[in-house]
Amino acid sequence: MTKVTLLKGDGIGPEISEAVIKVLDYAGADIDWDCQIAGAEAVEKYNTALPENTVNSIRRNKTALKAPITTPIGKGFRSVNVQLRKELNLFANVRPCKNIPNIKTRFDNVDIVVVRENTEDLYAGIEKQIDDNTAQSIKIITRDASLRISEYAFDYAVKNNRIEVCAVTKANICKLSDGLFLQCARETAEKYPQIKYREMLVDNCCMQLVQNPGQFDVLLLPNLYGDIVSDLTAGLVGGLGIAKSVNTGKDCAVFEAVHGSAPDIKGLDKANPTALLLSAVDMLKYIGQNTTAYKIEKALYKTLSDNIKTADIGGNARCSEFVRAIIENLEKN
Ligand code: NAI
Repeated sequence: MTKVTLLKGDGIGPEISEAVIKVLDYAGADIDWDCQIAGAEAVEKYNTALPENTVNSIRRNKTALKAPITTPIGKGFRSVNVQLRKELNLFANVRPCKNIPNIKTRFDNVDIVVVRENTEDLYAGIEKQIDDNTAQSIKIITRDASLRISEYAFDYAVKNNRIEVCAVTKANICKLSDGLFLQCARETAEKYPQIKYREMLVDNCCMQLVQNPGQFDVLLLPNLYGDIVSDLTAGLVGGLGIAKSVNTGKDCAVFEAVHGSAPDIKGLDKANPTALLLSAVDMLKYIGQNTTAYKIEKALYKTLSDNIKTADIGGNARCSEFVRAIIENLEKN
């Protein structure tokens, strides 16, 4: 039995994590969940958004499944997600975006992996109020972090039989910071002659992505552009309800959906659990439970091909109905 840290999050987090645990249990996943808390619940209980117990649990177990956690906007505690990535040195955020069988979208040839630097850039949160009418936010880009993420992206490309890495920046404007990131990507590219390398400015990249996404393979981006562009790529294959991700470093991996806590649909049985479920499927593969992972994938795709879908991807099933159908398909196997 593998011990995995579980963070049920808030907003739709508890609904979708319970749905996912149900499916994993039915499929026979051999997991001992180590439940921990973070975010508003933790502030109330321990007066900190990211308790030491939670961080230590992930350090110990090395693998976590995390549902979304709300970050107060413009005030309140710092993003737990950002803190967690920093604390555990989860320097790479990998967001694969590929068409899912039976989810019809504008394009049917999308197979893009967004590799996003996860520890610095404007996410460093170094902000200052200069005066009542002026605020300053500092963008940090370092050589070490840029080389580390570039190497991760090229290494990923090699290990996963990808053809090309495209570095995406705004180096024409942020000449020093994005310029440094680009320089590191170029240096790394030279060490991987078997992988094609190209560069694109982020604004052009967004336009090209919505016109001709089939041209892209692995995208390598600094933190903020990576965050924004990966929501765009999620939209290309059916939206946030199906977009999976992993935050990974040298020692630990935290699997989570790309989407947030969706407070607008909290408690309405409307949330699509697919993004967290697909993240959990990747987690099962990561801990070596491949058979269970493929069984779940098959049941999920069968459910979608039976046209049982939640509203965000054009169906009318409630979250609970969708999960019941996946479990029925698991039972039939
Ligand atoms: P969001 O991703 O929560 O929601 C954006 C839109 O997508 C909403 O209309 C929502 O209903 C819909 N949506 C998202 N997930 C869905 C699902 N599984 N099924 C069906 N519809 C879904 O983004 P928003 O509203 O900007 O952020 C809400 C909160 O989540 C904020 O506090 C933000 O900081 C936090 N957040 C947390 C993340 C994490 O924990 N990794 C990531 C992104 C945001």
